[in-house]
Amino acid sequence: MSPDPLSPDPLPEQPMPQQKSTDQLPSLYGGVVSRRVHIRDLQAAKDRGERWAMLTSYDMLTAGIFEAAGIPVLLVGDSAGNNVLGYSTTVPVTVDELLPMVRAVVRSTSRPLIVADLPFGSFQGSPEQALTTAVRFLKEGGAQAVKLEGGRRMAPQVELLVSSGIPVMGHVGLTPQSENVTGLRVQGRGEAADVLLDDALALQAAGAFAVVLEAVPADLAERVTKELDIPTIGIGAGAGCDAQVLVWTDMAGLTPGKPLTFVKQYADLRGILTDATTAYADDVREGRFPGPGHSFS
Ligand code: KIV
Repeated sequence: MSPDPLSPDPLPEQPMPQQKSTDQLPSLYGGVVSRRVHIRDLQAAKDRGERWAMLTSYDMLTAGIFEAAGIPVLLVGDSAGNNVLGYSTTVPVTVDELLPMVRAVVRSTSRPLIVADLPFGSFQGSPEQALTTAVRFLKEGGAQAVKLEGGRRMAPQVELLVSSGIPVMGHVGLTPQSENVTGLRVQGRGEAADVLLDDALALQAAGAFAVVLEAVPADLAERVTKELDIPTIGIGAGAGCDAQVLVWTDMAGLTPGKPLTFVKQYADLRGILTDATTAYADDVREGRFPGPGHSFS
């Protein structure tokens, strides 16, 4: 019998980058695979009760590292605004600024699902505006899905995108693009809890394949995760979500200043890079670099 072309399985075997052995790989990748993670894989992971990690990525080098480490979903987030582009918020980020980053992340990976964030002002106006923007991220950027901020008010946008063939990840709770209205604070406390749950349910009903829950009390996030059939992805939302996401510069300790309460730093890249840069500058000043091994005869 010939394989069903619509089924994500079975998967041809291919060696992993950096030659990790199959048993070291997260099972979401289904072992040694050569295709990209599909939204169906994420649903299957929820159905199996298997947790997974998502990270932001904005460039070729980190995307390659995160892929080799087995991260199944990379988000080219508008957090590029305050992590790459030098803005103090995500509000000024434009589609034209994010597109080259999406292309770089797509070009330098072959397995993670790449999700492009729809920037502020590029989708709120109407479902048609959202479709025009999302189509650019898929056609010009090569992304396989988009993410947009907002609850039930965004349901018409989600419906049109999904019915047009574009997978949509929702995002409720703290939505940084609205910080001028809401401030950057925990969302969904008290009576707002039911509103947040309804927002998440509305996104699911509109066809979203997953929902980010940002800065939401842990018990509410757990409740939403139980009520939803689709995966929830928490950031500052406790351990009860199906998946977790962090901004990579926070996770790796490159972001300056005190880490946010919900961030766990897994490295001190800022310290490592500062030490390396200082040592390099010292070597040049003291005549230790370049040495004989760094010169051509
Ligand atoms: O832009 C971003 O990085 C995000 C994540 C924090 C979910 O939206």
